[in-house]
Amino acid sequence: MGSLHAANLASMPPVELVHVSDEREEVARSLAATLGAACSTDPGEVVSDPRVDAIVIATPTSTHSALISAAASGGKHVFCEKPLGCTPREHRDAIAAANDAGVCLQVGFHRRFDPDWVAARERIAAGELGEVYLFHTTLREREPPSREYIESAGSFFADFTIHDLDIARWLVGEVSEISAFTAGLSDPLFRESDHPDQAIIVVRFACGALGTIDNSRTARYGYECSTEVVGSHATVRIGRNQQRHDVQWLSEAGVRVDHIREFAERYYIAYYSELEGFARAVLASEPVAVSGEDAFEAFRLATDAQRSLELRRPVTHAGIEMEAESVSRAGRCDSA
Ligand SMILES: NC(=O)c1ccc[n+]([C@@H]2O[C@H](COP(=O)([O-])OP(=O)(O)OC[C@H]3O[C@@H](n4cnc5c(N)ncnc54)[C@H](O)[C@@H]3O)[C@@H](O)[C@H]2O)c1
Repeated sequence: MGSLHAANLASMPPVELVHVSDEREEVARSLAATLGAACSTDPGEVVSDPRVDAIVIATPTSTHSALISAAASGGKHVFCEKPLGCTPREHRDAIAAANDAGVCLQVGFHRRFDPDWVAARERIAAGELGEVYLFHTTLREREPPSREYIESAGSFFADFTIHDLDIARWLVGEVSEISAFTAGLSDPLFRESDHPDQAIIVVRFACGALGTIDNSRTARYGYECSTEVVGSHATVRIGRNQQRHDVQWLSEAGVRVDHIREFAERYYIAYYSELEGFARAVLASEPVAVSGEDAFEAFRLATDAQRSLELRRPVTHAGIEMEAESVSRAGRCDSA
């Protein structure tokens, strides 16, 4: 994600990419050389670089909160990848640091910037769908990330489902109850650990609507992300076309179409637009489109999903902060 964001920033006037940092020197050096920026292995050097107005953080989740606090205390605006941390405390600390320093803090819920989701939301918000009855969203990846990534990323819900929990709130409204079911089926990492690779999450919204979320880390056919909202006047389906090219290949064997393989292929516009929106907000001193509180609320829902799994029952979402102690081991990052 860091390489993707850096490449976008380097081609986004009036933004100027001036400094790239990665603790692995070869990564920092080759990316910086490609994009014409300075490089370092210590993020502290980015914070103390007087040319830097804003910092994009795309390091492992367990490092986010401390890096946000360091950036904010250096007076830098922050865009941070989701989630803001692995515990409620890390979220509170990151949000407080940005508020205390008076800097912007935007979080990487990129789907809010995708033209398809934006168009659907505008029409739902304008009342064209009527009363919402049902919500369904699917998020599937072709293959799982590395074991190292999974073990440092917090719970499945906080790392993966969090995008769907945010989009549920954004399209329909606040969630009042959540039930979660998971399975670890595809390989020993998932079968023998408390990290699942498949999940179904059922939600009840405060408005009365019902929703389902299906997640898979191992949909071998490719990447899929689609949503459906059923209302009293209309139904909207988003992201049904999962093809890279509008091409059908017809032969004796049948008809073949290609399929998106990775999230970066599907969301290249959204990843660019979210940073463009962040830069605009910073330059105009306006509120960002996705706040730290949005990130915290989605994280609270992810934490409720984890509790539901452990308690084997639906959990009422109170929208209140939970103490770090109540988050299970599976809900924590390595460093927490
Ligand atoms: N929004 C999305 O669609 C999306 C997709 C993938 C990942 N993410 C998020 O992006 C973040 C990074 O994920 P990734 O897949 O790019 O991980 P990654 O492991 O591929 O990359 C992380 C990089 O950070 C570097 N790093 C680690 N600790 C550091 C530190 N303290 N200081 C400087 N550099 C450090 C590593 O060397 C590595 O190059 C995660 O929080 C993840 O949740 C978001």
